[in-house]
Order: sequence, then C-alpha cells, then structure tokens
Amino acid sequence: MPVVAVIGAQWGDEGKGRIVDLLASRARLVIRYSGGNNAGHTVINDLGAFKLHLMPSGIFDANTVNVIGHGVVINPEVLIGEIDHLQSKGISTAKLFISDRAHIIMPYHILQDQLQEQSRGDSKIGTTGRGIGPAYADKMDRIGIRAGDLMHEETLLGRLRIVLEEKNRLLTKLYGAQAFSLHDVYLKYLDFGRRLADHITEIHPIVHRALEKDIPILMEGAQGTLLDVDHGTYPYVTSSSPGAAGVCQGSGIAPSHLNSVIGVYKAFVSRVGGGPFPTEVDGAEADALRQIGTPWAEVGTTTGRLRRVGWFDAVLARYAAQINGIDTVAITKLDVLDNLPSIKICVGYKLHDAALDYPPSTIAVLEQVEPIYEELPGWQTPTSDIRDFQALPEEAQAYVARLCQLIGARLGIVSVGPSRDQTVFVSDVF
Ligand code: GDP
Ligand code: IMO
Ligand code: MG
Repeated sequence: MPVVAVIGAQWGDEGKGRIVDLLASRARLVIRYSGGNNAGHTVINDLGAFKLHLMPSGIFDANTVNVIGHGVVINPEVLIGEIDHLQSKGISTAKLFISDRAHIIMPYHILQDQLQEQSRGDSKIGTTGRGIGPAYADKMDRIGIRAGDLMHEETLLGRLRIVLEEKNRLLTKLYGAQAFSLHDVYLKYLDFGRRLADHITEIHPIVHRALEKDIPILMEGAQGTLLDVDHGTYPYVTSSSPGAAGVCQGSGIAPSHLNSVIGVYKAFVSRVGGGPFPTEVDGAEADALRQIGTPWAEVGTTTGRLRRVGWFDAVLARYAAQINGIDTVAITKLDVLDNLPSIKICVGYKLHDAALDYPPSTIAVLEQVEPIYEELPGWQTPTSDIRDFQALPEEAQAYVARLCQLIGARLGIVSVGPSRDQTVFVSDVF
C-alpha cells in the first residue's frame, strides 16, 4: 500500500490542508512531518470550517490515526488550544500521537524571533514571529527541549536550567529584554506536558507497524518548496525542510518507502513575507487574484497579512517538481481565474541576454530575472459547481494541461472552491 506525500510546491498556502482532508479517508495514518504553527491549513468540510496550525488535517476522519512527527516544532499552548477547539466541535482527538522527539517552541524562541526581526530593519525576513527559526536553531545546536522532556520533571528542570541561563544572557545583554524565570517556565511547561501526556509517545512503533501491515499513509507537508532552507529563496525562507526529503527525516519513513509525491500548486502564485518574486503583480491584476472580501481572499491564515500575488511561474514550478520527485499535480483555486479574459504563465526567465529554465540560487540574481510570458485565453465562466474535468470550459482544461506539461508531471486533482466537495478528480491519486 502506498505512502503518499502532499507537499507545497510554491511559497506555501497552496491548499495542502484541503487536499489532505480530501484524501484522509483513503489513508489510515496521516503524519504531519515538518514546520510549526507558522503554518495555517484551512479545511472546509461537512463538520465546519477550520484553520489548523499544528493538528494534522486528517483529524476529521474518525478512523484515521494522526501523528505529529519529530520534524515538527510544537508550541504546546497552540496545540492544546486546537485540541480543545476540535473537541468542543465534537471532533475526537483520541487518535492523535505526538512524537516525543519533536522539539518544543519555548517562550524565549518567540521573543528571540521577534527581536531578531526588529533588529534586521529593512532586511527583515518577514517571519510569522512564532519562534520557528530559533526553535530549529536550538535543535541543531543540541540545546532544544523535546516533547518527551515535558514528561520527565527532572530532565525538564535540568535541561531548562542550562538553556535558560544562556538564553537569558542573550536576551538581556544583547537585546535589553527581561529575563525568563526558571521557576515559571518550568511549571508552565510541566503543566503543558501533563495536558498532552495521553498523546506524547514514541512514534517509531506506530509508523513501522503501519508500514509492515501495508496500511496506507498520507504525509502532510507544511510551507512550500521555495521556503525550504536549502532549496528555497534563502535567506527569505523558513528554517525547515518542507519537501519530499523532509518527509523522511521528519517521520522516520525511509525514502524507499515513499511511493508518490503530490505537488500542490495554486493556479497562480502567492507569497507572504519578504523575498524575490519574479512574477509578482500589483494594482488591478493583483486585486483580481487576491479576491479580497471572499472567504478565500489572499490574506495569511496565520498572521492575517495581505499575501503578495503573481502569475503562475513554471520555472519555479518545474524546479519544485524536480527537487521533490513530484509525480502528481494538484491545482487549487482554479475558480479564482474564472473572470479573467486572459491568463499569463511564466515559461522562462531572461537574464540580460541569456535564457534560464531554472531559478538562480543567488537572491541578487533572481531579483534581476525578467519573466518570459505566454498568454492563454481565459474562460470567463463559473467553474465552482463543476466536478468532472471534461465539463470544465475548454480554455480551463487547456490552461491546466499546459501547467502540467510545463511542470512535467501528470494531473491528479483540480479544485474549484475551498470546500472538500469542490474537487475534480482527474486520475487515481491514492
Ligand atoms: P495551506 O497552507 O497550503 O493549507 O493553504 P491555506 O489554507 O493557507 O490557503 C489556501 C486558501 O485557499 C484557504 O483560504 C482555502 O480555503 C482556499 N482554497 C483552497 N482551495 C481552494 C479552491 O480551489 N478555490 C478557492 N476559491 N479557494 C480555495
Ligand atoms: P503553510 O503551511 C506561507 C513564511 C513566512 C516568512 C518565512 C519565514 O500555511 O503553507 P517563519 O515564521 O517560518 O520563520 O517565516 O516563511 N511562511 C509561510 N508562508 N505559508 C506558510 O505555511 C508559511 N510558513 C512560513 O511568511 O516569509
Ligand atoms: Mg497556509
């Protein structure tokens, strides 16, 4: 049985949450493998409308086990809030398991993230301010606190005593901020540990029993390939590995077990925060893509910031497919293009007199590329009630087919609205 990954193939917010919710009933195990509560995954189904930050989007299927893998950094307060909210809506979280190896976002990470951003001035990254970068940095620096540590009073106190001394020195001496009290932080996080005790566990046996028994597994990505710390538009990236390689590291599933990678692409492109964006548009073109006033307006799910928008960039899209081994494409928000008379696709970059078919790795160079556009006719017909690919207007079919041709992978799913049922299945995806 397959292990299928659903990953963001642009700068995040491609609609990963809605695709995972859609496919979760075909899986028995859903694993969120990276990122933290910088993510915001919108799910709209017959149980309601939900914005998930840490909870895997498979939680709405009563038969599915949901796991938060060790590649995730967890703010326990946010996760407890999500558990409480879902339970208040009658959704069971009894089958949620949290890797005891996952790192915990501590209050000093959040403060450090915000102070670092302030001190960067004009060159700030535009982080979500959720402590993501400092939490991953501490993990690599081997001074992180892990979910399992919250279960052991002495370990937690011992770890915190060492780490807080170092953190307080940094925060007070470099930034003039207030020191954190060891006593207060210890008691607060011990309490979070008690609240999450039924969920925190070793996930290795769960994952490997599922593999042995051929149970279908769905891997839920957060962020997107262009925010990847290695492959993205560094330094305007997040601090994790959102792509297919991160699947393995963040869950303990070997690369040889990964059967399929579904790349989720918006029918155009959006980006929150700073950094280069070759196909970015503004004015009336941006208003048409942003659709302010609708529930799916291009406003950040986590921070409420206006998202930057632009035309579909096939150079970046193909790059993402190559890096992740994307074999299947999910195109979301096709309906957003319904009213446009014509639609642009960036099919290449011009750099001075040279043509490029991949993104240059240096930001200063990427900022200089000029997109080469191809223009396709729009369909100017509503698509959100259509459920069959052949019933889509011919121009819409041609647009989507062209995107997949440029990406170099087969089309699996097209979505034409934010609800679970507003989906067109084109080929077998799972
Ligand atoms: P994620 O982070 O990749 O899960 O994506 P987000 O939830 O942050 O952003 C996607 C936004 O687009 C949400 O507001 C979704 O409700 C909305 N959305 C997803 N698919 C569609 C679609 O096919 N059509 C429309 N109109 N909205 C969609
Ligand atoms: P989902 O899972 C869109 C962006 C931030 C910022 C950069 C670094 O909903 O697609 P960080 O707080 O991670 O250090 O910020 O990454 N970013 C996202 N943009 N969607 C996301 O997640 C994002 N997660 C991080 O806006 O530019
Ligand atoms: Mg999002």
